[in-house]
Amino acid sequence: MKNHSRRTGLKPSEMLLDRSYHHAAMKRLPDSWKRGRPDIVHFALMEALSTPLFLKSMLRVYVHTINDKVITIADNLRVPKSYFRFEGLMVSLFRDKVIKSDEGNVLMELGDSKFANLINDISVDKIVGLSTAGVQSNAHRVASIAKGIDDCAFVIGGFPNGHFSEKVTKHLGPTYSISDLGLEAHVVVARILYECELLEESVDHKGDE
Ligand SMILES: C[S@@+](CC[C@H](N)C(=O)[O-])C[C@H]1O[C@@H](n2cnc3c(N)ncnc32)[C@H](O)[C@@H]1O
Repeated sequence: MKNHSRRTGLKPSEMLLDRSYHHAAMKRLPDSWKRGRPDIVHFALMEALSTPLFLKSMLRVYVHTINDKVITIADNLRVPKSYFRFEGLMVSLFRDKVIKSDEGNVLMELGDSKFANLINDISVDKIVGLSTAGVQSNAHRVASIAKGIDDCAFVIGGFPNGHFSEKVTKHLGPTYSISDLGLEAHVVVARILYECELLEESVDHKGDE
């Protein structure tokens, strides 16, 4: 960590924990196997924030951190495709708690609100977990849960190994697996959101019949 700090000129407290550089320093941290992969969050955000659902403001996105903080993503955020620019943005977010556009609009906000409060605040009708440990299903059936209700939250793990913490599982409704394989988080994001879009289109076209 000190070597990386010297190379980047950032204090260790200002760096994102990254297993590629901080493997040895991470070993003693609790749940270390779930940490140090900000690239997973980057991929998942790129996937979610590029979907038609998000572009049409039909999707709200939050990132819950291992320290039970919540990052709120604004409707108009375009996440940088370059990982290094994304990392810079996240470092600024953890330092300043907010990222604003040049026009002063809030793009990302880091709050101490905790997963429990987030669930309370968004007041959705259903909270669906996605995990290999869930009931075997598929993306179409899982997305269909959102049909006919106002709001549904899908919770996907942005970590490399392990499962949701107790803090998260106690708020989940049903939890499903959408494949007999363990998938990358961004693939799960893509599949669920695509199925949600298809459902949305079928609702839109019902009036044409
Ligand atoms: C790399 S996985 C984390 C590994 C975790 N042991 C697992 O299997 O769920 C990242 C996230 O992708 C989602 N995921 C991976 N495979 C999945 C599957 N077959 N069904 C549903 N969600 C899955 C879960 O939300 C998981 O937390």
